[in-house]
Amino acid sequence: MENIIEQIRADALAEIENASSAEEIKALSVKYVGRKGLITLFLRNISSLPKEQRPSAGQEANVTKQLVEERIEEALQRIEGLSLNSSDSIDVSLPGRVAIPGILHPISQINQQISNIFKRLGFDIAEGPEIETDYYNFEALNFPKNHPARDMQDTFFVSDDIVLRTHTSPLQIRIMEKTHPPIRVIMPGKVYRCDSDLTHTPMFHQVEGLVVDKNIGFSDLKGVLTTLVHQIFDEEISLRFRPSFFPFTEPSAEVDILCVICRGKGCRVCSQTGWLEVLGSGMVHPAVFENVHYDTSQYSGFAFGMGVERIAMLKYGIDDLRKFFENDFRFLRQF
Ligand code: DAH
Repeated sequence: MENIIEQIRADALAEIENASSAEEIKALSVKYVGRKGLITLFLRNISSLPKEQRPSAGQEANVTKQLVEERIEEALQRIEGLSLNSSDSIDVSLPGRVAIPGILHPISQINQQISNIFKRLGFDIAEGPEIETDYYNFEALNFPKNHPARDMQDTFFVSDDIVLRTHTSPLQIRIMEKTHPPIRVIMPGKVYRCDSDLTHTPMFHQVEGLVVDKNIGFSDLKGVLTTLVHQIFDEEISLRFRPSFFPFTEPSAEVDILCVICRGKGCRVCSQTGWLEVLGSGMVHPAVFENVHYDTSQYSGFAFGMGVERIAMLKYGIDDLRKFFENDFRFLRQF
């Protein structure tokens, strides 16, 4: 009888020793010490042994059972410890992966902010084609063929007569052709120029504005643009209207803000001038009104256009425009 239990013990210990997975060990536990396990059955059958053999067989079987249970426990711990260190298992002590929610791109944020300011001022919002005819992009805006002002815009030509729009100003013409004054509208969108360096990318965003009505004067232009600049930057910021030239406005003015870096003392960012240019504007040129058959004795208006990336760079103090287009989340999530 003792030979049998000894044999069972030897087999059990050897098999436990050789087992390499938790599943194998659990199967061995069932095989030897489970309800119908070999050691359990042996213990249950002790009563059928001759009386004198029962005590020693019982004792031997109980010691074996305990030993096998201990070895099973040890083997399980050993295997679980191993699997914690192996690379293909799950480490339940690692912190979970956080799903990072997306954010609006800073250019979209500035675009929205500008739209909201103008919505409160009662402006409509309009959009139009990015592939334009020479007529809308230049001719109707009073850039005659061979006019040197065309050189200010490094144009991508699709064909002799078709261009990628170099500015959002052609939308002024499209809107005026379709509607009658009073007009109060802003026109955000992408524009394209053949240019690429720290402060220029081949595609960028502009917001165009147009107001046409009876008795619109330069003071209206100043009022609207002062409100705009104060709301985008801050109420305290100083601005100035500096005479300039655009073919489609007369008089024309560029709007500068006091340099956000040096506060007017002069630094590298403002090229020592103390001022930073933020947008172009002017009273709509009579030649433009004539192109859309508006009666210039009745109506007058003003227009303006600004680069959205430029505003974002000034507002957030960013010195490399290309960062907006690289989509590095470490950069974008700061806004
Ligand atoms: N279209 C001009 C540009 O791309 C910006 C501009 C200047 C727009 C004056 C206007 C304006 O409407 O009145 O540089």
